[in-house]
Amino acid sequence: MTNVNFILADGTRRSIEEAAGRTVMQAAMSHDVSGIVAECGGNLMCATCHVYADPDTADRLPPISEVEDEMLDSTASPRLPTSRLSCQLTIGDDPGDMTFTIPEAQL
Ligand code: FES
Repeated sequence: MTNVNFILADGTRRSIEEAAGRTVMQAAMSHDVSGIVAECGGNLMCATCHVYADPDTADRLPPISEVEDEMLDSTASPRLPTSRLSCQLTIGDDPGDMTFTIPEAQL
């Protein structure tokens, strides 16, 4: 199990445990973590699952694909160097904590 931490736009912190194989977006949605809309259901077509990865987490994430990179240019909140689309981040077997800040707006 991996401990996934979310810092919500209001500063509230939520920590959940999730098994490998699910995406960060799916983990957030199934635990009612607010602030991720995921309008397209994870099909890389909406950019409403935007998160900011903590620098330590960002270093352990897979590279951004060309399509994710294009979609990150259409996020409602500003794109930062650590911006990612949470539907593209599959939780792996690495048990290290992951931390993401959820931006203020997704739409
Ligand atoms: Fe739509 Fe991630 S859920 S791009």
